[in-house]
Amino acid sequence: MKIHGTQPSVPIVLGIDTSCDDTSAAVVRGTTILSNVIASQTQLHQPYGGVFPTVAKQAHATNITPTIKVALKRAHLELADVTAIAVTVGPGLAPALEVGLTVAKQLASTHHKPLIGINHMEAHALSALLTRNSKQSTQVHSFPPSISWPALAITISGGHTEFVLITAFGNYQVLGQTIDDAAGECLDKVGRMLNLGYPAGPIMEEFAVFGNSKRYHFPLPMTTTQNFDMSFSGLKTAARNTLAEQTEQAPLNKQDVYDFAASFQHAVFAHITYKLSRLLTHLQKTTPISSVFLGGGVAANQSLRTALRATLKPYGLKLRTPISQRLCSDNGAMIGLCGALAIYRGETTDGALLERQPRLKLNQIIHTQ
Ligand code: KG4
Ligand code: ZN
Repeated sequence: MKIHGTQPSVPIVLGIDTSCDDTSAAVVRGTTILSNVIASQTQLHQPYGGVFPTVAKQAHATNITPTIKVALKRAHLELADVTAIAVTVGPGLAPALEVGLTVAKQLASTHHKPLIGINHMEAHALSALLTRNSKQSTQVHSFPPSISWPALAITISGGHTEFVLITAFGNYQVLGQTIDDAAGECLDKVGRMLNLGYPAGPIMEEFAVFGNSKRYHFPLPMTTTQNFDMSFSGLKTAARNTLAEQTEQAPLNKQDVYDFAASFQHAVFAHITYKLSRLLTHLQKTTPISSVFLGGGVAANQSLRTALRATLKPYGLKLRTPISQRLCSDNGAMIGLCGALAIYRGETTDGALLERQPRLKLNQIIHTQ
């Protein structure tokens, strides 16, 4: 389906994300968020200690239509007013992706709107570019946003941990990524060993504030490999062993848990910053970076941000983070932004033929059958 020339110069896009355990719909005008509604399923998955796919699918099916309605209402718009609909096609949980995609197709067809398939990891990589719709300020955010290229996106979530070189919107190259668990997944699994509940990442951050990060020692993984990939499963095993040794002597008291959380969180972030520093040194010789964006659920962590800023400083680089914590984790606004950028690039897909792609990689073609 082609997008014709009648749309306003800055596209207004309804963005939909049902990739994992949050049902989200948002309306953006270019980079500006007009609404961003998230129906969280965290409580539903808590008893399972992780996302349970059939429960996720059912909750998405229940929540998706009301979530879209509220997103449009808060933006004071109707579907007729939007330029296009953008929906996550992958990566993510297949049954969860299917719900968003099916509803998006129905809406696009009924309302004669172009439908754009979005890669969830592109959206996390660019989420730091979203801007507030401030009624007080007369500031108009230019679209597309002006960026000093090339940029490096650091995306750290429950499913991914990657360094992405961006030379232009739509041009992504993964330079390093985890070869096993994602950093968020690792924090969640170790947090579970500490009985912190699900997801444990944010609780680990809270506990770490009261703990001594030097008390427990964990290895720095993959220091001898020349590439910029990461690995978190060894850290997880080290945590399990350390905990077993410790609890053999005495059950953990509150301070032990705080110290463990602080030490383990520190180890996870030390691995990321070590690899980042090596990558930046390498890029200085080949493709000097001008901008750095942070995204993904773990990006909400203040200790991580501090560690990344310290790593970037010697390279003269500043860290651009999402403007709110809500924009770090899964949200429809980042999907809408990618949709608006796809329209700007003149990239359209035949929405009716879009398929879910649970293992979609960055820079992979989004299939339409
Ligand atoms: O991006 P996201 O919402 O979902 C995925 O696409 O995976 O990321 C969720 C992950 C979970 O592992 C969660 O524990 C972690 O982000 N997370 C945090 C924090 N907030 C969320 N990890 C550490 N510190 C936080 N403050
Ligand atoms: Zn995500």
